[in-house]
Amino acid sequence: MSATLESGQRVDIRPIQGRFGAEVIGLDPSAPLSDAAFARIEQAWFDHNFLVFRDLVMTPEQHIALTRRFGPLHIMTPLHFNLPGHPEVLVLTNAVERGRPLGLRGAGMGWHSDGEDKRIPNAGSMLYAHRVPDDGAATLFADMYAAYDGLADATKRRIAGRRARFSRVDMHEIHYPHLPPLTEAQKRERPDVYHPLVRTHPRSERKSLFIGRWARDIEGMPPDEGFALVQALCAHASDVRFVYRHHWRLHDAVLWDNRCMLHCATPFDETRFQRLMHRTTLEGDVPV
Ligand SMILES: [Fe+2]
Repeated sequence: MSATLESGQRVDIRPIQGRFGAEVIGLDPSAPLSDAAFARIEQAWFDHNFLVFRDLVMTPEQHIALTRRFGPLHIMTPLHFNLPGHPEVLVLTNAVERGRPLGLRGAGMGWHSDGEDKRIPNAGSMLYAHRVPDDGAATLFADMYAAYDGLADATKRRIAGRRARFSRVDMHEIHYPHLPPLTEAQKRERPDVYHPLVRTHPRSERKSLFIGRWARDIEGMPPDEGFALVQALCAHASDVRFVYRHHWRLHDAVLWDNRCMLHCATPFDETRFQRLMHRTTLEGDVPV
């Protein structure tokens, strides 16, 4: 199944795994993209949760410009992992040059959505493959519309109207036991936030399960009970039924929607291979 855009460019959109994910084939980032053609791509994003742009040979400027069509950009902090001269681009890599890391290493392990531990999480992220390990180095994506639909009715009733507490402070030592503990200043910068467990997407208006690795427990529930429920929901959310495994090819760019899906990096042999990715990030809105 494909749709062809006839507006300056011919672009095919091909579903990947049922409704979850679609490939965008043939987009030329150096050529103009009409508003009508862009609207078709944007609608495909809302329909399929994420888009895989194939063979997208683009400069950082083009990467920024393409992402900006989808909304205002978020600049990641601290700034020192961003591309010099292009603070909109976060560099994720194990590459080192002259003893200096070229970007953030080992990021994104564990199921999460970008910015879930902030009051305003990021709407979307576009990750672009500059260097891909020979062994693939997959990223996993999980469909939170399907995860919500797949909950037992009793669980849907149990979480309706409830909010989870996302806590960088409480979860830091669990997720980053190899790193130093947060300083008091860092803790003040990352206060706990509360988000609804059932989130309605502002554009698709569909309900999804909103959970992730920074969730600790549930407002108004005893901590142990809330923690157990969060763990059960996280396990459900990453069930194989809802997951797509993306094996990266050079010049893939994946645009995912943090408002209705989770993602998770997977390890690769860093002693043998280099991975170099550029990520742009979209500003979001308060989850409702
Ligand atoms: Fe991420």
